[in-house]
Amino acid sequence: MLVEALRRLEYRGYDSAGIATVNDGRLDRRRAVGKLVNLSDLLVHEPLAGKSGIGQTRWATHGAPSTRNAHPHRCGPVAVVHNGIIENFRELREELSEHGLLPETDTDTEPVAMLTRHYLDAGLSPAEAAAKTVSRLEGAFALAFLFDGEDDLIIGARKGAPLAIGHGEGEMFVGSDAIALAPLTDTITYLEDGDWAVVTREGAQIFDMENRLVNREARKIRMDAARVDKAGFKHFMAKEIAEQPSVLADALGAYLDGESINIPSEDLDFNKVDRLTLVACGTAYYACLTAKYWFERLAHLPVEVDIASEFRYREPPVLPGTVALFVSQSGETADTLAALRYCKEKADKIVSVVNVETSSIARESDLALPIHAGVEVGVASTKAFTCQLNVLLLLAIKAATARGIMPESDAAALLAELRALPGLFNAALDRDATIEKAAKQISEARDVLFLGRGLMYPLALEGALKLKEISYIHAEAYASGELKHGPIALIDKTVPVIVMAPHDSLFDKTVSNMQEVMARGGKVCLITDAAGAAQAGEGVWQVITLPAVDERLSPLLYALPAQLLAYHAAVAKGTDVDQPRNLAKSVTVE
Ligand code: AGP
Repeated sequence: MLVEALRRLEYRGYDSAGIATVNDGRLDRRRAVGKLVNLSDLLVHEPLAGKSGIGQTRWATHGAPSTRNAHPHRCGPVAVVHNGIIENFRELREELSEHGLLPETDTDTEPVAMLTRHYLDAGLSPAEAAAKTVSRLEGAFALAFLFDGEDDLIIGARKGAPLAIGHGEGEMFVGSDAIALAPLTDTITYLEDGDWAVVTREGAQIFDMENRLVNREARKIRMDAARVDKAGFKHFMAKEIAEQPSVLADALGAYLDGESINIPSEDLDFNKVDRLTLVACGTAYYACLTAKYWFERLAHLPVEVDIASEFRYREPPVLPGTVALFVSQSGETADTLAALRYCKEKADKIVSVVNVETSSIARESDLALPIHAGVEVGVASTKAFTCQLNVLLLLAIKAATARGIMPESDAAALLAELRALPGLFNAALDRDATIEKAAKQISEARDVLFLGRGLMYPLALEGALKLKEISYIHAEAYASGELKHGPIALIDKTVPVIVMAPHDSLFDKTVSNMQEVMARGGKVCLITDAAGAAQAGEGVWQVITLPAVDERLSPLLYALPAQLLAYHAAVAKGTDVDQPRNLAKSVTVE
């Protein structure tokens, strides 16, 4: 049961794993470096019994990936698993060494077990020892403790990283998220920051950071309990790219009711909004950069866009009349959550665009808008990106009509185009063979450039991120107009240049940039439409021709070839497409 639950967390990315159980009062553990199969092999030869246990898939932050550094960490009668970073672990280590407790690993987690053991030695009960330990920790953590001699006790605690309690029949569960618990129960209680819980088979007692007994809501969660599987695709990423036509259609069905957009004005009245601040990380940040063009062009609404890790420490002024909007697939990204909390008492309203409706970011927003992408397992975000764009575009159209900038008739026409987009998605996916051929050539490069103008500039950034994060090829993106201000020095025949350019109002300018590249021997892969190919496709190294689309919708459509280019390049290079090295699906640490 523990290994199966860990398998459901594999998508987060990891480099070692382990479990511990208590059997007839005896605490024992097994750990293995590498993939879960190494742990399950070990358990075949050295099985563990018991009716209570903990487990963890580790993504190394302190201490190299190794069996020694794998969780659960143990000190005497206590074992612990941890997600997050303990920032004061060195001070705790020094303090504990004065009590004769010395570390055996390089991890920030081991001192948690050592400190708990220290308090047990001082005569505290397991629950008191764990609670006192947790009160001493600085940083972000989701923790689960197991104790020698305690067959019916798990202590859980959370601060900054999510922790869910699952309610079963005569059994209870604790897990990092509902996905891990889905096959076991659909009744989940989410701990709040600072909470800790005493969990036995009878149920859970939850305490807040002042150790007051609190009552947290137990809710039924909609989770496809059926194991998320590849459904015949070689990788989750391939499946999730291919799902986009149907997923977008579902998302549109959830948000569109005839001509109206189902985002209640009483929840978000754009007539009272003077400006937007959009904050996110990674791919979600590129969705925000795209949305800036839409809000400003369609609704004449000023927009600032920030990377969450910069925003939270720059502490920018948040003026009255500002709506702060946070985009996050997982809804648990530490930097984005911290940026949201910074805006909490400052912005008029906190809005989030998330894929996990029960996530921390969703729960701490005034208004959480689901993107309806379904569970996204591949570490490289694909369908979540296009679904984020969809919700952001709907918000921009809503703002445009509410502010009297866009006539309802124009909005209706654009929504009709948007409704037809899943069909164009299918047409784009039909170019897979052409894209794969280009990708195989690109996979031999050491450096790749992506170029785009206007709405295509954030897409160039996203295309470069996709390629580098799963194929490990160095890729950079530039606004096409920036090329001559330096980057063109990089161009020679070894550097493929991906030019993303629908035949729109900026096409001619991008073509001249493309010709500057070709004049210097650069190999151009032009992603455009039939009109673009007819005008500028002659003599270009590779041309990928997409169906024509309203230029305002081009970011959603042009995401697909960018995703497929990265996917096929990674497959050609033999990298771990669904779980690229060094990456995690949900970055719940800083
Ligand atoms: C995208 O392919 C990456 N996996 C990564 O940049 C991701 O978008 C980023 O970590 C933000 O994650 P979130 O959307 O869950 O907040």
